[in-house]
Amino acid sequence: MILAIETSCDDTCAAVVTAAGEIRSNVVASQGLLHARYGGVVPEIASRRHLELVDAVTADALEGADAGLDEIESVAVTRGPGLIGALLVGVSSAKGIAASRKLPLAPVDHLHGHVVASTLALGREPVEAPYLCLVASGGHTFIAQVDEPSGYRTLGSTLDDAAGEAFDKGARLLGLGYPGGPELDRLASEGDADAFDFPRSLPGEGLDFSFSGLKTALLYRVRELGEREVERRRADLAASYQAAIVTVLVTRLEQAVGRERAERVAIGGGVAANSELRRRVTEACDALGVGLWVPPRELCTDNAAMIAGAARFAEPVPYPGYLDLDAAARLA
Ligand code: KG4
Ligand code: ZN
Repeated sequence: MILAIETSCDDTCAAVVTAAGEIRSNVVASQGLLHARYGGVVPEIASRRHLELVDAVTADALEGADAGLDEIESVAVTRGPGLIGALLVGVSSAKGIAASRKLPLAPVDHLHGHVVASTLALGREPVEAPYLCLVASGGHTFIAQVDEPSGYRTLGSTLDDAAGEAFDKGARLLGLGYPGGPELDRLASEGDADAFDFPRSLPGEGLDFSFSGLKTALLYRVRELGEREVERRRADLAASYQAAIVTVLVTRLEQAVGRERAERVAIGGGVAANSELRRRVTEACDALGVGLWVPPRELCTDNAAMIAGAARFAEPVPYPGYLDLDAAARLA
């Protein structure tokens, strides 16, 4: 069994996963409310809260798995990318736990975790490489070609904002709470997606994304309509804005399937929890005749099970080689 810890942003996460990819426990202590009054994650507050929570969350994960530390064979931890202070809490904690029992430790790329979420046992056959994965989260948006589950090749990525950032910033312009993505998702279900015309930007000949112009278009539209009209048409604005983001994501995914002649597709990252994206990707993959893996929502947003999932395909560092392991805000 692998014990994994993930603290790259504002969720304190720990999980126990078997070497076969079966999830025994997956604990997420969300700090969302703590940051809501600031309208975004405050890095210093996030690290302090991780420090307060990480031991209890890890103990919960072991208890939930009905496992003692003596049954754990290796430890995995998110090394980056993310908020450096937040990452350091997880890395230090994982090093401490691993060293106390001289266990091996696997440093994991957070994005690799999102890419392999669908290789975990989800109540159906997990996806097998080769497959394409669309990852859309708060900090990243890219399409990965997975030839071997131990790594991935990036076919295209966002040139500016991430899709989750576009959701959060759009939600803020519409006066919704934080985090904005889930709220915008809910509100959009009551609106008309054809009510407003927002730009669908597909930059260049490749598979890159761009979302910053969309956010600006919403800003102008909100100013033009004025407070009263925005209030009255908030659901229509949400639905139309969401449709623009989702259309771009699905279009690039369809193009990637064509170019790579992919037969299997997976999605991951917080935005993969979006109802409209899930619906539209399902429709697109049905039409293309390719297999689709959509993880349950709790495996899309940040969690430690996916970090253990990535560690299954990595060579862990034996004790004591990892004692000088450092967190990294960016990975090369
Ligand atoms: O993967 P994740 O939990 O953290 C990062 O690695 O960034 O992604 C968080 C992002 C946030 O921007 C959040 O608003 C977005 O995912 N998100 C959603 C939904 N649930 C989470 N966006 C749209 N619809 C949702 N249902
Ligand atoms: Zn993430």
